[in-house]
Amino acid sequence: MTTLFGRRVLLRPLVVSDFPAWREVRRRNEQWLTKWEPTRVAGQPDVVEDRDAFSVRCSARQRERQLGAGYGFGIFVDGSFAGEINLSSIQRGPFQSAYVGYWIDEARAGQGYTPEALVVVARFAFDELRLHRIQIAIIPRNAASRRVVEKLAIRDEGVAVRYLEINGEW
Ligand SMILES: CC(C)(COP(=O)(O)OP(=O)(O)OC[C@H]1O[C@@H](n2cnc3c(N)ncnc32)[C@H](O)[C@@H]1OP(=O)(O)O)[C@@H](O)C(=O)NCCC(=O)NCCS
Repeated sequence: MTTLFGRRVLLRPLVVSDFPAWREVRRRNEQWLTKWEPTRVAGQPDVVEDRDAFSVRCSARQRERQLGAGYGFGIFVDGSFAGEINLSSIQRGPFQSAYVGYWIDEARAGQGYTPEALVVVARFAFDELRLHRIQIAIIPRNAASRRVVEKLAIRDEGVAVRYLEINGEW
């Protein structure tokens, strides 16, 4: 199992036994997160409330790791689950690229944990996976997330119109 270390954060794949801690944080952060996430597809099991659905999610992420298609990590601070950061849609060939997505528990916001986790994941992506590029798609109104990439001087490549569906809006 890939475990990565920052100065204050530990990153490792989530496993089924993380469900109680994950659910507690997700429940408490529902409002904090829904406005920055795609709308949940009707009829799909709710991973926050359904342990089996969470287990399927963990297995899917494990399969992605085995295939080299994605690497999902829980962010742990002082031994407690605090958020997630994922490398996804890894493409090889001439692109050698991946997307990065992240979120942190509101109770831990503003302490620089996400930029720290992003540095750790970027190092893993470039040094271990030998990728050439990582991309972070941020809806322009998400000022907090834009600050994360600004702090790390990640290049702004402009605005793609109607690029992502976030909370019901493209
Ligand atoms: C975006 C997010 C991951 C940033 O994580 P973080 O660990 O708080 O990052 P930082 O500590 O570097 O803070 C970034 C900025 O968030 C803002 N911020 C700080 N505390 C905050 C709080 N309690 N509430 C809202 N915004 C806050 C500040 O503008 C801060 O910039 P500053 O350090 O220059 O003041 C986090 O706000 C989050 O999880 N938001 C909801 C999900 C989300 O938007 N994910 C990203 C989708 S692209």
